[in-house]
Amino acid sequence: VADFSPDDAVMLQDVLRGLALPEKNIPSLYFYDQRGSELFDAITAQPEYYPTRTEIGILERHGAEMAAAIGPGVRLIELGSGSALKTELLLARLEEPAAYVPVEISREHLMAAAARIAADFPDLEVLPVTADFTEPFALPEPVRRRVQRNVAFFPGSTIGNFPRGMAADLLAATCREVGPGGAMLIGVDLVKDRDILERAYNDAAGVTAQFNLNLLVRLNRELGADFDVSAFHHLAVWDEAAARIEMRLISTRAQRVHVAGRPFDFAAGEVLVTEYSHKYTPAAFRSLAEGAGFIASRAWTDPQALFSVQLLEVPAAAQDSSGGT
Ligand code: AVI
Repeated sequence: VADFSPDDAVMLQDVLRGLALPEKNIPSLYFYDQRGSELFDAITAQPEYYPTRTEIGILERHGAEMAAAIGPGVRLIELGSGSALKTELLLARLEEPAAYVPVEISREHLMAAAARIAADFPDLEVLPVTADFTEPFALPEPVRRRVQRNVAFFPGSTIGNFPRGMAADLLAATCREVGPGGAMLIGVDLVKDRDILERAYNDAAGVTAQFNLNLLVRLNRELGADFDVSAFHHLAVWDEAAARIEMRLISTRAQRVHVAGRPFDFAAGEVLVTEYSHKYTPAAFRSLAEGAGFIASRAWTDPQALFSVQLLEVPAAAQDSSGGT
């Protein structure tokens, strides 16, 4: 069974490169080993972590309108295997979807998502694709129904974990993937008061702290590093100018750490950045989406405007109106 992580050589390179920078960082994709995925699920149940339950509330309240705006006969392409509940809330409301295409790099997560949906929607053609959705991939054709429209579904505000330039590239790639007349339904966390944001990423039970520190546990186990996990502490800070949460691990003392035999020195109080979680204003996200080739056609939010689900549409191909051949 394929592992969730890119191979170890790539992980080692990424970690060595990030630790050698003057402002040390480690890419956030390495959070998600088995334990990290469990801890992320536990984060979504914390009272302070509003995004998951708020997005589910928006899908419950406005799912029928979303389905009407999307229309019948769609090939629904989910980027990442997703949480059963969010996908099911949408699928249950769609009119005769042509196919459900989950796209996920980990075969194990992919097959689990596909099996779950296939069991709950026996009429639906489920056509899983193992791929890195940041790269182009071929869309499988359903045999029973005709595809009237391709719609990508990308919930969870995972777009926020990409730097803005990469987020723009991912939207542009999705725009090409769904093609003219296609669409994307995407969950986007919104800019809001510092208090709410910082509480969401510094929960009182310390689950986010465990999630962050688990990264060091993983590097010790998988890359033979020797981080003293007890000599780092977690802190998440809202950077208002950059409109993003910065997840930090802070060295509590001067220390030397080795990764694959290479030494890295931390000063007391030195920061290791492990994740950015970008937040958008509705206007900022609209301009990002439109720069990528979409028309931002609808947005749904919760009563407190904490989170949004946005429908982005690709204009239909221009018809040849010349009357020529
Ligand atoms: C997966 N992603 C959208 C989460 C977020 O909120 O940026 C990851 C996370 N990091 C800390 N808490 C949750």
